[in-house]
Amino acid sequence: MEDQYQKPVLGQARKRRGNETQTFAYEEKSIYAGMGNGKHYYIQTHGCQGNEADSEKLKGLLESVGYVETMDEEIADLVIINTCAIREHAEAKVFGEIGRFKKRRRENKDFILAIGGCMSQEEVVVERLLKTYRHVDIIFGTHNLHRLLEFIHVVMVEKRRVVEVLSVEGDIVENVPTARDSRFKAWVNIMYGCDEFCTYCIVPYTRGKERSRRPHHILEEIHNLANQGYQEVTLLGQNVNSYGLDLDDGSYGFAELLEAIQHISIPRVRFTTSHPKDFSDKLIEVLSRKGNLMPYIHLPVQSGSNVILERMNRKYTQEEYRLLVQKIRNAIPDVSITTDIIVGFPGETEEDFENTLNLVEQCGFEGAYTFIFSPRAGTPAAKYPDTLSMAEKKRRLLTLNQLVNEGFAKGNQRFLGETVEVLIEGPSKTDPNTWSGYTPHNKLVHVKNGESYIGKRVFVKINVAKTWSLEGEICG
Ligand code: SAH
Ligand code: SF4
Ligand code: F3S
Repeated sequence: MEDQYQKPVLGQARKRRGNETQTFAYEEKSIYAGMGNGKHYYIQTHGCQGNEADSEKLKGLLESVGYVETMDEEIADLVIINTCAIREHAEAKVFGEIGRFKKRRRENKDFILAIGGCMSQEEVVVERLLKTYRHVDIIFGTHNLHRLLEFIHVVMVEKRRVVEVLSVEGDIVENVPTARDSRFKAWVNIMYGCDEFCTYCIVPYTRGKERSRRPHHILEEIHNLANQGYQEVTLLGQNVNSYGLDLDDGSYGFAELLEAIQHISIPRVRFTTSHPKDFSDKLIEVLSRKGNLMPYIHLPVQSGSNVILERMNRKYTQEEYRLLVQKIRNAIPDVSITTDIIVGFPGETEEDFENTLNLVEQCGFEGAYTFIFSPRAGTPAAKYPDTLSMAEKKRRLLTLNQLVNEGFAKGNQRFLGETVEVLIEGPSKTDPNTWSGYTPHNKLVHVKNGESYIGKRVFVKINVAKTWSLEGEICG
């Protein structure tokens, strides 16, 4: 059986080939029609928005053959765990989840458990799954998720386990059926993969070479979403600023794409993530024209120390980053900027850390995702000598978070007394009598009596500003 397995090979995943990416249209196969009739599926999604978008494709595929989604895993005939490999903690959580289904698999021979996503792309993970998690039926990766129905069919008909993880990125497959979670907010992939190779990061290995979708496919998708009444799209890529560099002569980039999207009648456009090194003046100029482009930019800095930035292979200095923030603020004075920061990177001294604190204080971030460095097998930084104690790393994280929270609160306070537009999403997570949504600046707002406005943009007068959220009254 082992010889039928296609396992990931890290040495292959690391390579970048010059071959041009081909684009294909997904074709439905009649042999799978009705395969899921009367059956339920349950998908658990870990990790970034890229994985959420992938899960919507997995759902679309399953629903195209009759499967129905359930939130109750107890009645599911098929469970898919779409995994994330970014930090050790994320992986540990997934192994725990996989273990939970052991009993279920033993008791019900027809139950199918599938593991997909970034963890499947890791050699060490697949070996561990094959050795100690023998109840997993399907292991597939990020490059072949459009083949999910084939994998399920093999398990059902041939009663054998399927392991198919490609280490070389595939082509772009358009028109994969998609079941979106929201009727008013949509993810739109503009590119796949990452070529940055930041020394701590596993993504270039799990997602492969950077591949941009053709502009007309992206624009058509957004046009269709606008026609269906969608209010907001978020353009996805690991580094959206390098969009298009792999297409033709590379002259149609992210700025050009946004310019075209500005003309589509979709009310709100967001994007994530921007790498500072590729943030062009043209892009700033296009963003400053606003229209449907939201005044919110997530701009991961990772560290405020040049020594660490260099060791991370981020390709900019802290001075260049500050200058970029200044340029963006000059062009878009009301912009809200958030960031990502890693503390405890190997060799980070107290002085390096203080440089990060200084940068955070001076750049005026209105939020940040902060992490303790987590070594990922196969990445260069995993081999860097790391002598700092975990207690000290935690102390740095706590100190940093206090500063970040101050920025978060300040960012909210500037809207006190203002009237802002909010796209109401649904009941608040903590109080079912309260309704929540986000402003153009990506501020979370809670209102009363929001029920009839779900999926709509309303004006809200803000009368309370807390650290994490705003409260107000709908006024139109
Ligand atoms: N492509 C995005 C980020 C994707 S990962 C970008 O470059 O901005 C999201 C965040 O996870 C990163 O910005 C980084 O701060 C963090 N991260 C990535 N690898 C990590 C690791 N090995 N340990 C700790 N944090 C990590
Ligand atoms: Fe990882 Fe860097 Fe690529 Fe972001 S840009 S996904 S941090 S390698
Ligand atoms: Fe995680 Fe893969 Fe996204 S590692 S953060 S799911 S690209």
